[in-house]
Amino acid sequence: MNKIKIDDLRNVVKEAYEKVKGIQGGKNADYIPFLAKIDPNLFGIAVCLPTGEVIEAGDTNYVFGIESVSKVFTAVLVLKQYGAEEILNKIGADATGLPFNSIMAILLEKDHPSTPLVNAGAITADSMVKPIGDSEGKWSAIIDNMAALSGSELVLLDELYKSETATNFNNRSIAWLLKNYNRIYDDPDMSLDLYTRQCSMGVTAKQLAIAGCTMANDGLNPVTQEQVFDPELAPKITSLVATVGFYEHTGDWLYTSGIPAKSGVGGGVIGIMPGAFGIAAFAPPLDEAGNSVKAQAAIKYITQKLKLNIF
Ligand code: DON
Repeated sequence: MNKIKIDDLRNVVKEAYEKVKGIQGGKNADYIPFLAKIDPNLFGIAVCLPTGEVIEAGDTNYVFGIESVSKVFTAVLVLKQYGAEEILNKIGADATGLPFNSIMAILLEKDHPSTPLVNAGAITADSMVKPIGDSEGKWSAIIDNMAALSGSELVLLDELYKSETATNFNNRSIAWLLKNYNRIYDDPDMSLDLYTRQCSMGVTAKQLAIAGCTMANDGLNPVTQEQVFDPELAPKITSLVATVGFYEHTGDWLYTSGIPAKSGVGGGVIGIMPGAFGIAAFAPPLDEAGNSVKAQAAIKYITQKLKLNIF
């Protein structure tokens, strides 16, 4: 990979912000009422370096719904608790080539939720979080892990949690279908509720960039200096993100951006450039696959301009 000059990175982040902020197109997620109401003009970019420096532009301290980006965090937690091989056996590390909430993907794979980074695998992952059978103990493990990765606590957006719980019918089907295939390792309704709650956590682009850098930095949080996970897990995490981070558009994403990244319907994207930095961008309007239009444009602008590419 091209060696990064920090001054160039600082300038290109600013440039990306200016070039992308006026882009029109996309619309807020509307299947969760809370998300439909968020100001569509919010936009921020943050890059965190292994030195702990965070380069920021725009609304990087605005607290938005983490949504599917939380799947990466809980994948880290179950990888820590079970090890890489058991996660491969119980969940998998494959792309589905289908939307994030696909029931078809479960039926096609028979009993296999494919990856912890789609809804089915994420609900299985939540069912696996230890201590089994203890909803509050599991929740503490989930949020403590989120705080360790991002260097500060995330807060539950209660209105988002209520909004998601009232509308998550498809995910309820997924949880019980997985139960039918013996791929739920705790109470299905509890596992679904943990998934819904983790998606409803509020996060900032700055926190996501720090978490991305912890992942890019072999598990060492650059701000707190805590070793959050074993360095051996770092390539497993990045490979999961690279494989399915943009669902059915992951190939297009990697082909054009060169960086493993994961999106959420709250408008956030986290990117991991191994050994170099973590990046996050946030803007609510999404494309038809549920990925933030501006966040994608901003991250691509930066990687293309600096000729950064993991391949
Ligand atoms: O499962 C859901 O519908 C949401 N809570 C999370 C979906 C999500 O963020 C998909 N990513 N682009």
